[in-house]
Amino acid sequence: MVNQSTITNGFERSGVVVIGGTTGIGRAIALRLAQADADVIATSRSRDAVASITAELRDCDATTTAATCDVRDRESIEQLCDTAMATLDSIDLLVNSAGTVGTASVLEMSESTFERDIDVCLTGVYRAIQVFGRAMDGGAIVNISSMSADQARENRPAYCAAKSGLNGLTRAAAADLAPDIRVNAVAPGFVKTPLAGDKLDDGSSFRATVDERTPMGRVATPEEIADTVLFLASNGASFMTGEVLTIDGGYDSSAQ
Ligand SMILES: NC(=O)c1ccc[n+]([C@@H]2O[C@H](COP(=O)([O-])OP(=O)(O)OC[C@H]3O[C@@H](n4cnc5c(N)ncnc54)[C@H](OP(=O)(O)O)[C@@H]3O)[C@@H](O)[C@H]2O)c1
Repeated sequence: MVNQSTITNGFERSGVVVIGGTTGIGRAIALRLAQADADVIATSRSRDAVASITAELRDCDATTTAATCDVRDRESIEQLCDTAMATLDSIDLLVNSAGTVGTASVLEMSESTFERDIDVCLTGVYRAIQVFGRAMDGGAIVNISSMSADQARENRPAYCAAKSGLNGLTRAAAADLAPDIRVNAVAPGFVKTPLAGDKLDDGSSFRATVDERTPMGRVATPEEIADTVLFLASNGASFMTGEVLTIDGGYDSSAQ
């Protein structure tokens, strides 16, 4: 089996910003890119989490800096973009991985929770694409969508709506930014991260149901999602734009 961490994908000294890059999938993406010799800024709202991932990126010899960002605040995204422009030679790749998921039925979910998930998972990505798209000379944007864009998940009305919208935003942005910037998305199935909480813990009944229902018989690792992001960002995907790649171990496509 190929050791993915040895694949460089031609990212040497590429400038990368990963929003929502301090934990889970975003952290794995940031580290994979740094291991592929990119210069990476990984950000979120938490100063401590940003300091921690920034130290890890420095250990990979990436040029980086510690910068917090809240995608609900346009000014904060603009500051991040200014910092990235000052730190990196250029911004070649933006990854939008920030996400929140409120859990309540459509009858019970508060308007503030609904608006928060839409703001983080959809409007925040629009803000970031707009701010960074104006600053980038070319390159790629990869949005982290979800299998929930096309499949109903109980008690996640805002998240499902936001991720459906994100797929549409990905296609629209791809059309607007071509041919200079390619815009694609990945749609993971179940991935063991802090966002998933303890639902996917080994031995939980939900995890057993997911494993049984998934042809690959397990959930994804954050690194497997990161490898697909690296592919979409690489020259190997030079004619791909406006696509949403599902990575779910066959869950969505199987009739089980
Ligand atoms: N885990 C799964 O099964 C799964 C499946 C499909 C799709 N996804 C998607 O994958 C992406 C990453 O999720 P994950 O599972 O890796 O979750 P995670 O570990 O909880 O990571 C979420 C990241 O988003 C950041 N964040 C949250 N609100 C933010 C805001 N307002 N501004 C900036 N950053 C913010 C968090 O940091 P702070 O809280 O410190 O800001 C954290 O870095 C999300 O878009 C999620 O919808 C996950």
